[in-house]
Parts: sequence; C-alpha cells; structure tokens
Amino acid sequence: MDVIKILDKTFERYLSAVEIEAAVTRMAMEMNRRLAGKPPLFMCILNGAFMFAADLFRRITVEGAQISFIRLASYRGQTSTGAVQELIGLSEDIAGHTVVILEDIIDTGVTISYLMKQFQALNVAEVQTAALLFKPGALKCNVVPDYVGLEIPNDFIIGYGLDYDGFARNLPEIYRIKNTEPMLNIVLFGPPGAGKGTQAEFLIREFGLTHLSTGDLLRSEIAADTPLGRQAQTFMDKGELVPDAVVIGMIKHRIESHRDAHGFIFDGFPRTVKQAEELDRMLEELGIPVSGMLSLEVEKEELVSRLLNRGQTSGRSDDRDAAVIENRIQVYHEKTAPLKQYYANQGKHFHIDGMGAIEEIGQRLKAAIETGLKKLHRQ
Ligand code: IMP
Ligand code: MG
Repeated sequence: MDVIKILDKTFERYLSAVEIEAAVTRMAMEMNRRLAGKPPLFMCILNGAFMFAADLFRRITVEGAQISFIRLASYRGQTSTGAVQELIGLSEDIAGHTVVILEDIIDTGVTISYLMKQFQALNVAEVQTAALLFKPGALKCNVVPDYVGLEIPNDFIIGYGLDYDGFARNLPEIYRIKNTEPMLNIVLFGPPGAGKGTQAEFLIREFGLTHLSTGDLLRSEIAADTPLGRQAQTFMDKGELVPDAVVIGMIKHRIESHRDAHGFIFDGFPRTVKQAEELDRMLEELGIPVSGMLSLEVEKEELVSRLLNRGQTSGRSDDRDAAVIENRIQVYHEKTAPLKQYYANQGKHFHIDGMGAIEEIGQRLKAAIETGLKKLHRQ
C-alpha cells in the first residue's frame, strides 16, 4: 500500500524496508570500522529509535559493545523559559566509555545537542552521534552527526519506530506526509510605497509561505556558483538583463527544493505578460498553478506622501523628489496594467484596497486569500 491514513493525515510511502535495511547496514559497517578498539556504549533514545537501534545493534561486531536505553521527558518547569528536558533511565557508570547516541531522526537538532552536552558532562571518553535520518533543512543548531543513514527533505515522516501521536511505529517502511491542501501561490503586486514588503512578510508568517524574490534568487545562485548562477553572471557582466528562461529556471530550482512548502509568494516577478505566460507554463508542469494575483491599490497622493516620508529617513535618493516619485508610479501603472488584465482573464486578479493602517490592509489581504483564492482552488 503506497498511501495510508493515520488519524487526520495522509502519508505516502517514502522508503522501503530494503532501503532502510541498506542504510542501517552501511552505518553498522562504518561503526565497526571506526569504533574498533574502543568498546562503544550505544545509547538508544526512546521511543522513536528502538527499531533502528535493534536492527543496527545486531550488526555491530565490535568487541565489548553494549547498549542502553534512555528517554527524554519534557515537563513544564517553574522558569519562564517553558519546557525543560530531563534525561531518565541512565543507571550505569558511563565514565571513560565511548558513547554513541542513537537517534531515529535529527530534525531541529535541539534534542541531540542537549544530549551531547549532558553526556560530555559525565566524563566520558568521547561522545558520537548517529541518526538514521537527518533533515538538514530543518536544522536550527550547529550539529554534524558522526553517522547518518539518509538525508531527507524537511517533511514529517512516520514508520519504523517514528510516530504520529503514538501511532505508526510498527510500520516496516517509512512514510512521508502528503500535503493534501493545494499550494497557495501568490503573485503580489503594488506600486512603490504600497507597503508590499511589509505585507509580504505578514502573509509569509500567516500562511507559512516561502518567499520567492528574483533578486534574492539571483544573488544566492551566483554566490553558490551553480550552473544557473554562472549563466546569469555572464549576462550581468555584459550589462545585459538576465533572460526570462534563466530566471524561470532559478524559480523552478527553488520550488523543487521546497516541495514541502505550503506555497510561494512571488515578489518582483512576473513583470511582463510574456514572463507571466512562461511562469504559468512552468508551474503547470509542476502541477502547482498560480492561485491568484493580489494587487494593492493606493491613491497616488497617498503614495507620494508615504514615499516622501520614507525619503526623509531612508536616504534613498529616488524617494526624495516628488516628480521622480510620480514618474515611478506612472511607469508602474503602465507596466502592470496588462498583467492585471492577464490574471483577470483567468479570473485570478484580486484588487485590494491598500489605503489605511498596515494591520487593516493585512487583514484585507488575508480575507481575500481565505475567501477568494482558496475558493478558486477548490473549483
Ligand atoms: P529535534 O530535537 O528537532 O532534532 O527532534 C528530534 C525528535 O523529534 C526525534 O527524536 C523525533 O522523536 C521527533 N521528530 C522529529 N521529526 C520527526 C518526524 O518527521 N516524524 C516523527 N518524529 C519526528
Ligand atoms: Mg526520538
């Protein structure tokens, strides 16, 4: 069975029993080699790691190897910091041992960092860490596990010891959560001074979206020296605009490496009807079409006064001169009018009143997404 339902969630098969076994065997072989001569004490972190630990330990041939089982209990402490962890079940004297912590999965890395600190304080010879699964994309601490079975994307997974609310630990395969909500892909538009940046940040937080700013993308692909980045650089070196195909390629690349995202917010792209068409084609291929275009509408006098205000503190020279500002607004309207029409033809253009307080405008955007965009999706 490739798709299963546990409580309210749907999961799809991700790793077969054979793939898991191969990963565990690889880890055991590496441990047998690296731990020879320093009899290890394996520490299985309950509950999740029990199955991994059992399959791994039967493949360990290092003389004098031992295994022990501990768990972490969270309780609400008296302090204002909230949850406090407590290590329970450690009975043996572990001083002088080489301790190998066995974890089913490293997600944020908070647990493993805490455990390493605890064991290092106990006078052990060495602390090593092993995780069957490792989600580098979720990491919040500086952790480099000594042994890793498989690197996986930042998705919630179950099976082979890992649970969802206590269930699914018995599955011999590993399943990954299937996002059944369609992705929310928003194209955000607004003239200079409309508060696009502020509202984009709000929507990202509110709906768990991933930001797709083409300027940021270009800079990061170039910095990472990827083939696309090198391609873009050659055009920029000649003082030319980066062609649409290259930009679309970068967007596609970013989307494919964030398949777990709830959706994307497009900022600064598309700027022309041709780009919008190419974006549509690419998203269609990936099966995640644009949900809608939200355009923030603000009266010209208000935009001018907001920008002049910003110019007093930002130091941006283009925010100081009323004539320059008017011209930028004019250019925006000329350029985006055809794009609004393009999305309106698909029934996907949403006009948002951008006058008033920041919170008010944010709530209008949120309402448009919840009632308009999501409804469009369900049709
Ligand atoms: P960390 O402290 O965020 O690295 O999380 C480690 C612990 O969180 C693991 O030992 C698991 O118990 C649990 N965990 C993290 N990700 C998953 C997952 O995708 N499925 C099930 N449990 C998980
Ligand atoms: Mg665990």
